[in-house]
Amino acid sequence: MRKTTRAAVAVLAAAALLSIGAQPVQAGGAHGKKQTLRSAAPRDLRIGTAVAGGGHHVDQPYPDPFPNDKQYRAVLAHEFNSASPENQMKWEFIHPERDRYNFGPADAIVKFARKHGQAVRGHTLLWHSQNPAWLEQGTFTKAELRSILKKHIFTVVGRYRGQIHQWDVANEIFDGNGAYRQENIWIRELGPEIVADAFRWAHQADPKAQLFLNDYGVEWPGVKVDAYEALARQLLADRVPLHGFASQAHLSMRYGAPDQLQSVLQRFDDLGLYTAVTELDVRMDLPEGGVPTEEQLATQARYYTTTLNACLAVDDCNSFTLWGFTDKYSWVPVFFPAEGAATVMWDDFGRKPAYYALRDALAAAR
Ligand code: XIL
Repeated sequence: MRKTTRAAVAVLAAAALLSIGAQPVQAGGAHGKKQTLRSAAPRDLRIGTAVAGGGHHVDQPYPDPFPNDKQYRAVLAHEFNSASPENQMKWEFIHPERDRYNFGPADAIVKFARKHGQAVRGHTLLWHSQNPAWLEQGTFTKAELRSILKKHIFTVVGRYRGQIHQWDVANEIFDGNGAYRQENIWIRELGPEIVADAFRWAHQADPKAQLFLNDYGVEWPGVKVDAYEALARQLLADRVPLHGFASQAHLSMRYGAPDQLQSVLQRFDDLGLYTAVTELDVRMDLPEGGVPTEEQLATQARYYTTTLNACLAVDDCNSFTLWGFTDKYSWVPVFFPAEGAATVMWDDFGRKPAYYALRDALAAAR
């Protein structure tokens, strides 16, 4: 029954979007009180954002966003009921020296989330990137490395036990050919079996958290998705506590709409897993002057709602997260030089067509 309901709702949402065309419905409108993303959302779907801090922000000409920008925090609390530390739980940030953890910023996000009725997505435990130098450049035996990972997982996951909705346990473990990434220190040194161990340890440390595989480049079917499906089947057959598969969904208007995402998510739903969209943004090539055209904004709104509707159409897609909500703090211009304007709000938190399109699609799905 739920399958039919969700699918029917997605069709309605798509129809609602078509009927407004390129012209966004303005605040309020036909949906009455459903004025924010979180209040418009169906009860079984969390609407989240990355919480800006660490990573690229450190080199930007503004103070650390989350602790310093009051307006940012107000919008974060108002619009979202899920929060993902953008960098604050990554190894380099939370575990900067072998015998020292830096929990302050992650603690502050978890506390804020509790106060505002938000779930937290923990990100991430086993990744090739943003690892501290002491780890990447240290000399360790295999046994030492294994115990370093195990201790880290028990320490970090254990600290937030009961307070994390979902953990991205393994992040970006496959390359574009569906092969295990050799630049991943854990996989290179300990072999791919370490992935199963990471899930087992995370589950022991917090039995209630939903444990995810997370990656980009899985928005369309292909060898990478095939690799994840094979891995998911194997882990489930081996009774490893894997609970979910997530598409990051860092989209670019250079590569077209994510019109096959629903079918990808459905493959994992069919295995009995939760699915999620964890890092959605939609970047575009900025015209001279840096201001997107109306047409670009309409296309961007369509990509956002296509992604949302994919999630809404899949039964157990239970979390939908934007990788930031304002261009003011987006990672995109820093990492993709000619592209930008990737989030749903301008620098001053003014709402773009993509914001209204998402909110209307959510309201139509309730
Ligand atoms: C990005 C952050 O947004 C930046 O601040 C940081 O400098 C680099 O990482 N996939 C992921 C995220 O899983 O953790 C990345 O976040 C974006 C790509």
